[in-house]
Amino acid sequence: MVILRNIGELIVVPPGPIGGRAMGRVPRIASAAVLMEDGRIGWFGRESQLNAPAGCPTIDARGGCVVPGLIDCHTHAVFAGSREHEFVQRIEGKSYAQIAHEGGGILVTVEAVRKATCEELTALALPRLQRMLRNGVTTAEIKSGYGLTVEDELKMLKAVRNLATLQPIELTATYLAAHTVPREFSGRPEDYLDELLAESVLQRIRDERLAEFCDVFCEQTAFDVERSRRVLTAGAKFGLRAKVHADQITQIGASRLAAEVSAISADHLEKIDDGGIHALKQAGTIAVVLPGCSFFLGVEQAPARRLLEADLPVAIATDYNPGSSMIESLPLVLSMACTQMKMTPLEAMVGATANAAAALNRHDRIGAIAAGMQADLVVLDVPNLERWLYEPGRNCVGVIVCKGNVLLSPEPG
Ligand code: NIG
Ligand code: FE
Repeated sequence: MVILRNIGELIVVPPGPIGGRAMGRVPRIASAAVLMEDGRIGWFGRESQLNAPAGCPTIDARGGCVVPGLIDCHTHAVFAGSREHEFVQRIEGKSYAQIAHEGGGILVTVEAVRKATCEELTALALPRLQRMLRNGVTTAEIKSGYGLTVEDELKMLKAVRNLATLQPIELTATYLAAHTVPREFSGRPEDYLDELLAESVLQRIRDERLAEFCDVFCEQTAFDVERSRRVLTAGAKFGLRAKVHADQITQIGASRLAAEVSAISADHLEKIDDGGIHALKQAGTIAVVLPGCSFFLGVEQAPARRLLEADLPVAIATDYNPGSSMIESLPLVLSMACTQMKMTPLEAMVGATANAAAALNRHDRIGAIAAGMQADLVVLDVPNLERWLYEPGRNCVGVIVCKGNVLLSPEPG
């Protein structure tokens, strides 16, 4: 048994998914304590009501705000190489789609990833994950999608599996072979899909538990709705839950497809329309917004307020990747959700905890403060939630508790 005491404000996030209209019902407890047992939350409440045996090990929250461990439910954190030249090209006026059309973009990273070994990819990603942890992330999803051959995609998924054993963040992997059509299959997307969706490949991914989800970039420059449907239904046959990169650059019906195939999440949504919003709501699909991506590309944000007003559960992630969001700090992205999308700090934090857990099908175990949930907690060095996201330039994470164990008390900065 371990006690976390002297909590300035405990945000009692209920298990997800939490729709936009239920946000007002998230309680906060001042002067709180949490009791943890066997890596789970046993009791929480006012510290004055705490009833714990004498001599029980104690963690002092020093009056800080406590939230569930953060969950980054959409990243491409395994990659090689760097694309700062595209960053400059965009400053000079080119768009993300134009750069991709001219052979830049994802394919530049593909070249670097193909040259790297699994060990090299693992070594490159490890310090990224260590920094994500210091920012309060205790669970993260990582996609493949920069290999674009069977061998290189599996290499990326194996790197994720290696990383899961090398550091404390719980990882889950997504098969995103349908990220774009590689050069050698230019003009022959169906042939490419034949290879990457071959039963033997999907079977191997399932049997070796290399991925939990299957994703597709459903976009004019990548895969149209019909091909995307093919990708997601092929994955589903082998137990891979669908995720969709939807409505990012153009509106081609991607979020409607996500709803049609009962995707667990539809991500991006910068160009979602009312029909797409309605479809996601009907299907119970989580709407994942990626404010860091629009910030990094200098384009319009997804209409998060409209999604919340439609009572959708909205999750927030970094989309950490070398092309469209070279941002590994989830708290920074939560601040962007506040200032750029007009989400409240509470809505943003729920987006990176309970709703992100739902986007990863883990909402019965993580992302909430409730008896029986895994004791993953972030102790902030500020007294309330609002003060945290009001300070995007500083890491306010004081202590990280993972499965009831104190993982680290990071240095400031
Ligand atoms: O989520 N949109 C497609 N995929 C990534 C970007 C990948 C890249 O540019 O390397 C995204 O933004
Ligand atoms: Fe992405």
